[in-house]
Amino acid sequence: MTLLKIAQIGTPILRERAREVTREELESPAFQQFVDDLVETMRDASGAGLAAIQVYNPIRVCAIEVGDNPRYPYKPKIPLTVLVNPVLTPLSDERFDNYEGCLSVPDLRGVVSRYAELRVQAWDRHGNAIDREVRGITAGTFQHEVDHLDAMLFVDRVTDPRTLCTWKEFTRHQEPAFRARVAEIVARWGS
Ligand code: NI
Repeated sequence: MTLLKIAQIGTPILRERAREVTREELESPAFQQFVDDLVETMRDASGAGLAAIQVYNPIRVCAIEVGDNPRYPYKPKIPLTVLVNPVLTPLSDERFDNYEGCLSVPDLRGVVSRYAELRVQAWDRHGNAIDREVRGITAGTFQHEVDHLDAMLFVDRVTDPRTLCTWKEFTRHQEPAFRARVAEIVARWGS
């Protein structure tokens, strides 16, 4: 297992569109090793997700997992999910405001508007079809990761820059109110 270097905002690769992965690539040991390293790197950095392009590999792959995460203690749990060539389709126009951060954007958080319910179509790491629905906070996490594959960072979607804050000030000033909102979102959408 190798821990990979995570590109930081300003690195040009974060502004490239990641390319599709072929079935032949999926079958290679090198690809499977890369996915293992991506997951390990995400866990080491306490990320809720990590896209391949964030570790300098511009392919349409991302990992998502939320357990007992110190960066996001209020997030509903998500079992480890690896998406290859994901396509997200909103299931309604309903949206919610999500306070987001990113391993490629050090010490900054901000409020982003996200769709509340999505259809997720992708391959898993072995090429099996994934076709499921995700809702609420979890849907926000999926949108954040897939944005990376389309050269977007959460800061691009922050509609009110006055919501930007450091992690320390988030904990101090924003987290109590946001936790209350998360509880409402979880009650409404189940995750
Ligand atoms: Ni990110």
